[in-house]
Amino acid sequence: MDRTLVIVKPDGVERGLIGEIVRRLEAKQLRVVAGELRHLDDATARRHYAEHEGKPFFDSLVSFITRSPAMVMVVEGPGETWRVVRNLMGATNPQEAAPGTIRGDLAIAMSENLIHGSDSSESAAREIGIFFPHLG
Ligand code: RTP
Ligand code: MG
Repeated sequence: MDRTLVIVKPDGVERGLIGEIVRRLEAKQLRVVAGELRHLDDATARRHYAEHEGKPFFDSLVSFITRSPAMVMVVEGPGETWRVVRNLMGATNPQEAAPGTIRGDLAIAMSENLIHGSDSSESAAREIGIFFPHLG
């Protein structure tokens, strides 16, 4: 089995969409193997999004992800789970995300796109290590 990190971002928690998003993951037959509602601090957010440091949207991204609690989860499935989750999420920009995807159906703004999923096996391992070090 293969694992990846998923975060229902603060907008998703605020809008009461944890259940809807987890439902879609579970309907696909992915399993939630760890989860915690966590209000990320600045240092954790910067570490998580380190690849984006220096980009024009970095500070607002950190402000957004730290503004209220997020639901941080490890999700497991057969094959490349990070890829399965990314397909369920849809494109980064919800205005371009396909209908049927989480972002395509439920989000409209790039800055509030509901869900994070690791973008490679390497990212999944790194990110699980940040939030659930005992699972590393
Ligand atoms: P995430 O990491 O949050 O799962 O999203 P992602 O892989 O689909 O997109 P990524 O390129 O990693 O960007 C992280 C988040 O930064 C915001 N963003 N804004 N204004 C822009 O050009 C821009 N590009 C990215 C988005 O909120 C994106 O989810
Ligand atoms: Mg990303």
